[in-house]
Amino acid sequence: MNVLDRFTTHFSPLTSPGPEALAAAWDAVAPTVPEILPLAGPPGVYPYGRKVIFASDDVEIIVMNWAARRMCAPHDHGASFGWVNILAGEVEHTLYTLDQNDFPVSYLKRREKSGSRYFAARGMVHSMGNSSDDLTLTVHVYAPPIHGMKVYDLEKCAACVVSDDCGAWWPEDQRQILREIRFRSPEPAGS
Ligand SMILES: [Fe+2]
Repeated sequence: MNVLDRFTTHFSPLTSPGPEALAAAWDAVAPTVPEILPLAGPPGVYPYGRKVIFASDDVEIIVMNWAARRMCAPHDHGASFGWVNILAGEVEHTLYTLDQNDFPVSYLKRREKSGSRYFAARGMVHSMGNSSDDLTLTVHVYAPPIHGMKVYDLEKCAACVVSDDCGAWWPEDQRQILREIRFRSPEPAGS
């Protein structure tokens, strides 16, 4: 059975799945790099090429093909949680906590190895990237499908809620910005 049919077979029956059910379905599909690579879109000008390969009312699965030496913007996943599966390459991963103004502050950097996966809890803010020139391919399994994702621009002290077809970068197309949030700039030192 081809890989897209296997995703449909194992993910279509899931309704309001928890993390364990998502992980079990992934393990049943057991996709390989040669199966996923032809489905991946080119990054173009963005940090990653983004292709939705499965979507139901309860689950969304997105293949990301990472540009060399690029990081995505810090972001949450709306009200969703999910698993990030690293199929190829090594991912540079930064995790953030939110300060008293709900602005992200990084607290941990780690490297996610090829063949591993990590859990993105609801509300988690993180950024990812490919710090090498190597093929870096990840598959993201979210429940429910992502809606209302917030993307942060740390330099501009701003965030925006992006449309469902946008990745983790500040949209150039204004129509993809559903709401913009400005945070107070930090007080200059010595003031
Ligand atoms: Fe993410």
